[in-house]
Amino acid sequence: MKNITYHKSGITPNQRASLMGQRGCVLWFTGLSGSGKSTVACETEKLLYAAGIKTFLLDGDNLRFGLNSDLGFSEEDRNENIRRIAETSALMAQAGLTVLVSAISPKEDQRENARKIISSFAAFVEIFVDAPLDVCAKRDPKGLYKKAFEGQIKEFTGVSSPYEAPPYPDIRLKTDEMTVEECAKKVFEYHNFLQSAGHVAKVMVNTAVEAGKRILEIYNKGFSVEYKSDNSPLTDADKTADRYINETLAKSFPDFARLSEETADSGDRLENDFCFIIDPLDGTKEFVSKNGEFTVNIGLVHCGRAIAGAVYIPVTGDIYYSFTGRGAFAAKAESLENIFDEKDRIFVSDKTDKITFMCSRSFLDEKTKALTEKYKDKIEKTVQCGSSIKGCFIAAGKADCYYRFADTYEWDTCAMQSVAECAGGIFLQGDLTPMRYNRKDPLNAKGFLIVNAKENIWTI
Ligand code: ADX
Repeated sequence: MKNITYHKSGITPNQRASLMGQRGCVLWFTGLSGSGKSTVACETEKLLYAAGIKTFLLDGDNLRFGLNSDLGFSEEDRNENIRRIAETSALMAQAGLTVLVSAISPKEDQRENARKIISSFAAFVEIFVDAPLDVCAKRDPKGLYKKAFEGQIKEFTGVSSPYEAPPYPDIRLKTDEMTVEECAKKVFEYHNFLQSAGHVAKVMVNTAVEAGKRILEIYNKGFSVEYKSDNSPLTDADKTADRYINETLAKSFPDFARLSEETADSGDRLENDFCFIIDPLDGTKEFVSKNGEFTVNIGLVHCGRAIAGAVYIPVTGDIYYSFTGRGAFAAKAESLENIFDEKDRIFVSDKTDKITFMCSRSFLDEKTKALTEKYKDKIEKTVQCGSSIKGCFIAAGKADCYYRFADTYEWDTCAMQSVAECAGGIFLQGDLTPMRYNRKDPLNAKGFLIVNAKENIWTI
């Protein structure tokens, strides 16, 4: 880069947050003109204000009078408009404010870019203010649709310029079916939940560690192995950990659904925005063969997105955990004192050369071999390892890429995905589309990849 160095502030994010009495975040309202973005954002801001939350509203229209007054509505100008709004809101969120952004932000990649800019500092909440075009055109609060339909405004979103609806928003508000108050309340409640991240992460971490202790007792004592219908092994350790995790989470979060590898799936989780995705013992094969490469996994999903994760490795005592907007962390469980301690934060490496390539211990298939052959000049080392440890190693910068072509299930990847993403990594399905959770069928049938940088997204 252009001879510039990043200079760190002498005040840590935790110090700043404790003085502010709150943690910054960005509530990003996207939708057509006239969908109700600004109206709902204003109403949400009133609720937050009444609750003592320090906020600021960045409205796309208003910013075009000042910061963005040099920009029009071409795709290029809108990209720049959104980039500036994202950078500004990231700074304000770092300062500790809850920033409400109201901007059409018509394209998926503009919003994903905003998420990337913001989420290493603060939670980014994509709120889709969803009203059909004909409803927005009928409302026409500024008389712009009439002009656009008459051809007087060029590149008008929804009429002569596209709007890409977010396929997986963090919150969807159907403003033609819900009142403004209902919409604002929904955003306000999710904001409250995000402010309780420390408590949620602590429960997830403690539960994973306690389950791990129970597993280790059985591991050291000896156990018998049964085989499930798909020929995968099952031991007392899986069952004991599963029972413990489900009971503990049900007690702490009675309103959240759960999906676990070892518990029958009732299906009502599909109606719930929140769902824990649990693998009480990932790497039972490694457990049985006694090589120590097994983990306890608890992921938390909100509206299809993995927003938090805890991965515990009982044999080494390492706990990896993450929460959206807060980052990814690694610590020895026995010496973990403060949740989200900055000294424990982990980040992916920036290597694009001489990389360490992780692959499965039990499934070194033809596709993986073909990939490592094609990219052999880039790979310094190939490491085989069991369970979700692989994703955690990438999150911690100890390895750089992990490709998996064979089938897995949601519980194999959810917690690890959150850890890897919160550490700055990229997690995609094999067809390079995003991985979503709490689906009807929990099979991950497309494979997946976890990489430290986009340059390491390879194809065979
Ligand atoms: S964005 O697409 O770049 O995100 P932004 O939210 O900043 O747009 O500005 C949208 C506002 O500009 C609309 O609410 C509307 O009042 C006004 N506007 C003027 N021309 C257009 C246009 N061609 N398309 C959409 N909005 C327009």
